[in-house]
Amino acid sequence: ALVSATEMLNKAHEGHYAVGAFNINNMEWTKAILLAAEEAKSPVMLGVSEGAAKYMCGFKTVVAMVKEIHDNLGITVPVALHLDHGSYDGAKACIEAGFTSVMFDGSHYAFEENLEKSKEMIELAHSKGLSIECEVGGIGGEEDGVTSMGELADPQECKTIAELGVDFLAAGIGNIHGKYPANWAGLNFERLGEIQNVTNGKPLVLHGGSGIPADQIAKAISLGVSKINVNTELQLVFAAATREYIEAGKDTEGKGYDPRKLLKPGADAIKAKVIAMMEEFGSAGKA
Ligand code: G3H
Ligand code: ZN
Repeated sequence: ALVSATEMLNKAHEGHYAVGAFNINNMEWTKAILLAAEEAKSPVMLGVSEGAAKYMCGFKTVVAMVKEIHDNLGITVPVALHLDHGSYDGAKACIEAGFTSVMFDGSHYAFEENLEKSKEMIELAHSKGLSIECEVGGIGGEEDGVTSMGELADPQECKTIAELGVDFLAAGIGNIHGKYPANWAGLNFERLGEIQNVTNGKPLVLHGGSGIPADQIAKAISLGVSKINVNTELQLVFAAATREYIEAGKDTEGKGYDPRKLLKPGADAIKAKVIAMMEEFGSAGKA
């Protein structure tokens, strides 16, 4: 069965590694990531943005699809189905639909309102046995058409939200969604360290996990990051592998146009990338 993410992330925090939260878009993504986790013997979180859920015909469809694929493949490692960057209404809907973890992202509200809504959502999620992530300080870049500025989170605000009993906390430390620009300043470790100090060892979440150099990932984990969100990286490897297949003319050979063949190089590329990231994050072999 799918599980809440609390235990896997607390273990990751104690063990100084991070669990990947990989965003899914469809059956191919789901299958590739679950197979990767099983092969790497790693716990895993499947992230679902509200936009992706809409694309997959709603939260209930996502829950049904993920559960069936999980059982059909005989997955034995811990898997959490997590709403990524949830709105107030979206998080409530996911709690009802059967997700096992939700993020309530109130970072675009004024802090008092974020605090009030986060408190309500933490109580609701916990009353139903789900784990919950909240966010302080916007993450840079663009996601589902919403652009935020990528400020550094205020440690005092992080402390206040942590004390509400949130299970893990996303805080802006100079990370950006999507590709990192050439002039990116890198993660702000001083701020990350301060946030970990005032939040009393709460597992922290690093968004925008695509394209961060390995040494910065390792340092972030050493400073309390226990969950790393990855979306763009998997889209890039899928697109590149699919392009290669088509440019080589393989879709025109035999039945190469069959979607089960056409989408296979991309799905294999996702699986390989996820395994490599599980090794990099240190979660491989931990399930
Ligand atoms: O919430 C999802 C992530 O933060 C993904 O960021 O697309 O840069 O990997 P990314
Ligand atoms: Zn994110």
